[in-house]
Amino acid sequence: MPVGVVMEFASHFTTVAWVDDGPVVRLLDQRLLPGVTHYLECRQPDEVMEAIRTLAVRGAPAIGVTAGYGIAQAMQLAVRTKDLHANSFDAIFAETCKHFAATRPTAVNLFWAIKRMQEANARWHVRGPAERAAMLVAEAKRIHAEDIEMCLAMGRHGAALLPDSGGVITHCNTGALATGGQGTALGVIRSAVAQGKKLHVWVDETRPLLQGARLTAWECAQDGLPATLITDNMAAHVLKLGHVQAAIVGADRIARNGDSANKIGTYGLAILCRYHNIPFYIAAPTSTVDLACDTGEHIPIEERKPDEVTHLGGQRVAAAGVDVFNPAFDVVPHALIAGIITEHGVATAPFTPDLEAMVARARTRHTQVEPA
Ligand code: MRU
Repeated sequence: MPVGVVMEFASHFTTVAWVDDGPVVRLLDQRLLPGVTHYLECRQPDEVMEAIRTLAVRGAPAIGVTAGYGIAQAMQLAVRTKDLHANSFDAIFAETCKHFAATRPTAVNLFWAIKRMQEANARWHVRGPAERAAMLVAEAKRIHAEDIEMCLAMGRHGAALLPDSGGVITHCNTGALATGGQGTALGVIRSAVAQGKKLHVWVDETRPLLQGARLTAWECAQDGLPATLITDNMAAHVLKLGHVQAAIVGADRIARNGDSANKIGTYGLAILCRYHNIPFYIAAPTSTVDLACDTGEHIPIEERKPDEVTHLGGQRVAAAGVDVFNPAFDVVPHALIAGIITEHGVATAPFTPDLEAMVARARTRHTQVEPA
């Protein structure tokens, strides 16, 4: 964890880390959780890209932080192993950014982090290759440190929205495994519990890859957060029984009008919440807001391989040869969202003015960094 950042909760693992010696990008391999705690030591940017593609590291903010480190690693390795001049540095940098941008399409934090690295590279273009590579490592560390702070700020703004006691339902994994810090939606729950609220977390298992069952349930157990796991199709019944007073989830990309893409199944949960009169919140940093997307219609939805649906834990559970549709995300229309919690406060309907102001505020902050 970057020095000087205080975490509000005790995490027993590190999702993403930069190790100067190597340089190595160290990632907790989330494909193996909860059974095995294994750290991948990525020594080449190709290994970092593969980790993002295969969901060894996943969750929108964590993907952004990881890409920043992967790009920094590529440039560190390039200056160590090649006799670079300014043009070849820029050519390798551009190629690396292009490859990272092709790893996953929906989480805009990936493209946001790449843009941050490109802006940093442009800011320091007059420096020599070794110095520029060092500046890029510093920028990647800054992206990580800011993500930790943004999680804490979302926690402060969002905790007030949750009830003093009762059930909160969530979908997918939005905790420390999905970010550089304590999490987005799960981070808000963590902050609320740290304030003394007596919350019970209802965890959707999140088919097909079980981020809820494997990852969120694991994080709740690590923290001693009271939690109950349900399969996704049980949510309606649980809401009807009155066990849930609020819903809070993360997002992978938020359009200018507030439409929010998140893990497949989130849209259904939002509809259920509207029917049962339960407030439905999104928690996401401004790095997840894409003002270039006017509405959710323009958000690219990743489609993944059929075997994620036909197989469970390596075992076939579907009839061989059946046709499969496997969109990894869906879009919650803004009309179903009670509030979008960012590090700069809570955006409410009509969303656009609040989101624009929050993004502008965040941008002013990180562009103030000048070359040393
Ligand atoms: O496919 P994944 O596991 O990367 O999807 C993650 C999600 O959908 C999360 O809910 C989202 O990234 C918000 S995480 C803080």
